[in-house]
Amino acid sequence: MAHAADGLGDVLLDQESLQAEVTRLAEKISSDYADRPLHLVGVLKGAAVFLADLMRALTIPTSVDFISTVPYGPVSASGVVRIRKDLDEPIEGRAVLVIEGICASGRTLAYLLRNFRTRNPASLGVCVLLAKQRERPPDVRLDYVGREIPDVFVVGYGLDKDERYRNLPYVARLT
Ligand code: IMP
Ligand code: MG
Repeated sequence: MAHAADGLGDVLLDQESLQAEVTRLAEKISSDYADRPLHLVGVLKGAAVFLADLMRALTIPTSVDFISTVPYGPVSASGVVRIRKDLDEPIEGRAVLVIEGICASGRTLAYLLRNFRTRNPASLGVCVLLAKQRERPPDVRLDYVGREIPDVFVVGYGLDKDERYRNLPYVARLT
């Protein structure tokens, strides 16, 4: 029987480190948004596990919505991103924090931020669990980063390779 961990290399973040990063981020976010209700926007599916943990660690009133984009492949190397499932609710006038599992080239976030800005939120921030050490578009500002990691492909804690490995409770390099 195939094991869930087949094909995996080094563990970059174990369960304890993930919990520590989530706690640290949640404390900072709870303090930064103490004066206004926070609207979390999770980017499916990679952010689902991170968001579930993060929102339970926040000590401020929050609401949550989700958006899903169609991943661009080599055919769309131009960075064109499409929305598969849009937000359920308007974000106009709200304090919005986009929650993403990982930022690599930053193209997905660049697109989403541009799109969300046209909807006139009161504020628009970004929180990513992982940020790869590589160049990003200048308009992609990561307000909260769990960990910077080398530019390698990782899976687990919501992140997949062809829909596999999302359920791993840690983040590991794929070999
Ligand atoms: P970007 O647009 O290049 O920043 O890539 C963002 C999207 O690519 C993320 O939302 C992930 O779905 C996917 N991605 C990028 N790097 C990885 C990785 O190392 N593991 C799993 N998914 C990744
Ligand atoms: Mg993926």
